Amino acid sequence: MKKHFLGLCAALALAGASGAEADTIKVGIVAPFSGPFAIYGKQFKEGLEVFVKDYGTKAGAHDVEFVYKDSTGPNPDVSKQVTQELLIKDGVKYLGGYVFTPNALAVAPLITQSQTPTVIFNAATSVITKKSPFFVRTSFTLPQNSGPMADWAIANGIKTVVTAVTDYGPGVDAEKTFIKEFEAKGGKIVDKIRMPIKTTDFAPFMQRIKSDAPNALFVFIPAGPTAFSFTKSYSDNGLKAAGIQFLGTGDVDDETTLQALGDAAIGIKTAYPYSAAHKSALNDKLIAELAALHPDSKANFATVDAYDGAYVLYKMIAAAGTDGDAAIKAAKGLKWESARGPVSIDANNRSITENIYIREVAKNAKGELENKEIFTFKDVPDLGQAK
Ligand code: PHB
Repeated sequence: MKKHFLGLCAALALAGASGAEADTIKVGIVAPFSGPFAIYGKQFKEGLEVFVKDYGTKAGAHDVEFVYKDSTGPNPDVSKQVTQELLIKDGVKYLGGYVFTPNALAVAPLITQSQTPTVIFNAATSVITKKSPFFVRTSFTLPQNSGPMADWAIANGIKTVVTAVTDYGPGVDAEKTFIKEFEAKGGKIVDKIRMPIKTTDFAPFMQRIKSDAPNALFVFIPAGPTAFSFTKSYSDNGLKAAGIQFLGTGDVDDETTLQALGDAAIGIKTAYPYSAAHKSALNDKLIAELAALHPDSKANFATVDAYDGAYVLYKMIAAAGTDGDAAIKAAKGLKWESARGPVSIDANNRSITENIYIREVAKNAKGELENKEIFTFKDVPDLGQAK
């Protein structure tokens, strides 16, 4: 009898739990919505809106509600504080967003302790997913872009390169991977430059690169206003005229600012998992839906990383409700067709495997600049994990 009674209590507790689960599950989105990097928050939010238009607000039996918090910029303390607020005050059961590596690293202990599945929409240093078993990533990593860029450079007759990277996690990952791959295949690194994250005047670096006179420059700078200044500075300082090719990760020629670079940007080559000029029915659909919701917006990597991030969040919520461990199990090995091409979540490292496209800035039929895909490296995993 007693045994039955206990069994009933357990059953009631379970029913209670699943009853609660059928309620709304909140997902906290942490990103910059103010300051120089506010474009990320805007693009993420719009990507999620397009996703909700396609998939609705229900994941399996659960209603989903997104709650947004401003991380302001590369600021780990704010990132931690707003994440704590989301977990404690708002009661979110899932998290998403996180643009900057230090911001993602700062919340690793929190999400591990609270067992909160967290989908990184951007932060791209390889090591992040090793810092908590509850991280999943739908963006890319710098090794994933930089290895293929080095291979492409060698295959296209580039023999000498100067590397220039922002001096923090993703920049160091980009530099190390590019150099290792480029030298292994016979290329020569003439100079290595690390630029402080707060740099806004790139002229001195440009003079240094010009006097190094390599075949090409390889660069990583976090996407945003400074990446735009760097790219502009390359042509303003005569590097293009001197015949020094511009190779980079796609962070440096974001689609939202590409037109403003003008014709000087033509010929820039970058490696990235997404271009708004990607030719596929799914990408056409995403771009048309975004245009219908926000006529002045342009799809970029952040739009698609958030859209795909929501896809993974919905799959986890539908499969596992509020059980964090079960949610991560459900994310591992997921495979689907994205607007960027075929993608999957690596079951071992929880980062995304995807095509990496070499893109060249060129004019399209409408006379607008675009990142035209000129070569595809298929199904590239996070190359930084193998280290
Ligand atoms: C990062 O901090 O991980 C990061 C930020 C911006 C990028 C890429 C990586 O464009």
